[in-house]
Amino acid sequence: MTEILSVASECAPLVKTGGLADVAGALPGALRPLDIRMRTLLPGYPQVMAETREAAEVWRSDDLFGGPARVLATMAGVLDLLVLDAPHLFDRPGQIYLGPDGRDWPDNPERFAGLSLAAAEIAGRGAEGWQPDILHCHDWQAGLAPVYLRDRFPDASVGIVQTIHNVAFQGLAPADRLQALGLPQSGMHPDGFEYWGQISALKAGLVRADRITTVSPTYAAELLTPEFGMGLDGVLRARRDRLSGILNGVDLSDWAPPYRLASGKVKHKARLRAEMGLPEAEGPLCVVVSRLTEQKGLDLLLEALPALLEGGGQLALLGSGAADLELAFERAATHPNVAVRLGYDEALSRMLIAGGDAILVPSRFEPCGLTQLYGLLHGTIPVVTLTGGLADTVIPATPAGLRAGVATGLQVHPITADALGRALTQVCALYARTEVWRRMQRNAMRQPVGWDRSAEEYAALYRALSEG
Ligand code: ADP
Ligand code: GLC
Repeated sequence: MTEILSVASECAPLVKTGGLADVAGALPGALRPLDIRMRTLLPGYPQVMAETREAAEVWRSDDLFGGPARVLATMAGVLDLLVLDAPHLFDRPGQIYLGPDGRDWPDNPERFAGLSLAAAEIAGRGAEGWQPDILHCHDWQAGLAPVYLRDRFPDASVGIVQTIHNVAFQGLAPADRLQALGLPQSGMHPDGFEYWGQISALKAGLVRADRITTVSPTYAAELLTPEFGMGLDGVLRARRDRLSGILNGVDLSDWAPPYRLASGKVKHKARLRAEMGLPEAEGPLCVVVSRLTEQKGLDLLLEALPALLEGGGQLALLGSGAADLELAFERAATHPNVAVRLGYDEALSRMLIAGGDAILVPSRFEPCGLTQLYGLLHGTIPVVTLTGGLADTVIPATPAGLRAGVATGLQVHPITADALGRALTQVCALYARTEVWRRMQRNAMRQPVGWDRSAEEYAALYRALSEG
């Protein structure tokens, strides 16, 4: 049995703001049949503490960046959890990363340094006799763990994997926090975790990990370019022999569609229209479930929307994020064929994915993307830009793709409002060709989107590391 300590700042179904939670929540179950036990270290946010009953203390500290802390071992459903109970860092209301003013908590560097230090302690010292073979760190929130582990436990024979879910979030902290964060001065240089005079938690993970993964092969290649690397492309190019892309999967036990044939969608579509206050229509009902940020390209959708409406289509959107986008979508919703719900709503997200005809993901960059995978599974045809994991998961309805009868979605290229508009016009036209559309739905629903293959790839990576 290979033992893994996975460290993440969110994990479904306990706490989620995005796809990281889905992945952190699904990986342990996907790896279990491969004889790999993954325990997950999570911050003890209120919603996590509420699930932490019958827990055993396995680690403690009198002062973890300003207060006492302990790690509690517990099971939550099938998840084998280690919960970092540190009230001064995590017992706060609201969104996990943001204060009531909507901005990052000023002590986010200390909060996630606390998570990382606890991870390094458990990996380096063990907890109640348990020690992992591999420390698997997700995103910047766990990025300091490799530094703490290698710095404080130089003899520990624990392999380290750092996964990049999104290079846009780098976990920067001012250089004068170095001591407060308990980081070695020796790391404060361009080959260490220094990033243009600041401390970068993500870079720390990238320079100290034994292997770096990201969540799709195309994003792994994109990350090496200045356009997508967001300042870390040089670091990644220098370590490209350690970098690979392993595509995210879908937890099929959680996301199985409520119907087996695409025709089962009819009832769900009617229910969705009623829920969102949309009238009956001849054209396709397009849905969006997304954070509203620059990354997701939804400003392009606002520009391209007339093409969808002129083609007889409808839009139902669920999302939250940037105030200007929220406002613009609220305005767009004055059109009778556009419905918008602002906020985060797990149940409604599932209604949209089950009831929609097509799901729109016009991202400017997308490390993997999960909603297009949920779409495929539900015969909800993905319309995606040609980038990152979107490029790796959709077989486009080009003339050749349609002739060969293999298409599962539409690809937008280049990433502009014009190209998106053309794709939306094409969606309306294809939807009207019932046989062609049905064929695409059948292909989509048959496309394997589960974890099987990717779990094997993680397993091979862990084994190579722990044996080598
Ligand atoms: P990202 O992690 O960049 O936001 P992903 O596509 O990987 O993008 O994952 C987003 C996850 O969050 C999906 O599970 C999606 O269904 C969910 N999600 C996004 N926005 C909302 C929302 N407003 N309400 C409910 N779920 C949402
Ligand atoms: C990030 C990315 C998204 C990816 C998710 C899970 O949030 O933006 O593309 O699917 O992580 O890996």
